[in-house]
Amino acid sequence: MTDAHLAQRGDVAISNLSKTFAINGRSLNVLRDLNLRIEGGESLAIVGASGSGKTTLLRILAGLEEADSGHVSIDGRPIDGVGTERAVIFQEPRLLPWLSVEDNVAFPLEVRGIHGREARSLADRYIRLVGLGEFSTALPSQLSGGMAQRVGIARALAVQPEILLLDEPFGALDAMTKITMQEELSRIWREEKVTMILVTHDLEEAIYLADRVLILPKERDGRPREIEIDLPRPRDRSEARFVRFRQELLAEFGLH
Ligand SMILES: Nc1ncnc2c1ncn2[C@@H]1O[C@H](COP(=O)(O)OP(=O)(O)OP(=O)(O)O)[C@@H](O)[C@H]1O
Ligand SMILES: [Mg+2]
Repeated sequence: MTDAHLAQRGDVAISNLSKTFAINGRSLNVLRDLNLRIEGGESLAIVGASGSGKTTLLRILAGLEEADSGHVSIDGRPIDGVGTERAVIFQEPRLLPWLSVEDNVAFPLEVRGIHGREARSLADRYIRLVGLGEFSTALPSQLSGGMAQRVGIARALAVQPEILLLDEPFGALDAMTKITMQEELSRIWREEKVTMILVTHDLEEAIYLADRVLILPKERDGRPREIEIDLPRPRDRSEARFVRFRQELLAEFGLH
């Protein structure tokens, strides 16, 4: 049996990944020989100072950017550009303004050759999952920021990816909406059993959502660190162990 048969769905293996950018004639070593395995169904958060390479890593995983060297494989198979088993959620949902909520969610399904009743029923299922059942005929201009981001999540999930890649998905939301969205994402992740890789600058969000937090180093010669968050779910932000994880992560950034 080959590796591909043994691997779980949504397993990600990153080996010896490096990426350098040239800026003003200087070369900037953004990722240096990164090795990481993410198990199918796991929730991994990636944190790190601004410029530490979080978005770059996510874009490489999404197939939107090429690494200089190293490999990424999913379920034992090397990735080649973007793929249907991965869906990306950015900070802004980038909805098509002339399409209703339902048509926005169905759009990527249509692109993949799923039409008519099947597309409608999948779109409806995910619109309900994100709590927008009443708004399927609304236009994006009629939604709040949090609602629009929920449509983005429904659209990403409707294609039933194995892996959900999120880059600061709630960064543009107010504090209250953000907490609600984190709770919903946690529930959806458990229900859908997808692998989740979440880039965030919000340490509390990382502890709330992740099984494991990867801390990318600021210094180019530093090594990434990992903290396992073995708290039961749903998580309680005021619980003593949660607070301790927060202190531990803050200390990683020299803060308290
Ligand atoms: N296309 C590009 N061309 C040149 N340099 C780039 C490019 N993309 C990113 N970089 C550089 O790579 C470094 C890492 O960028 P990246 O966007 O991955 O950081 P980040 O960790 O996501 O930061 P932030 O928290 O601010 O979003 C930065 O110094 C940036 O200037
Ligand atoms: Mg970024």
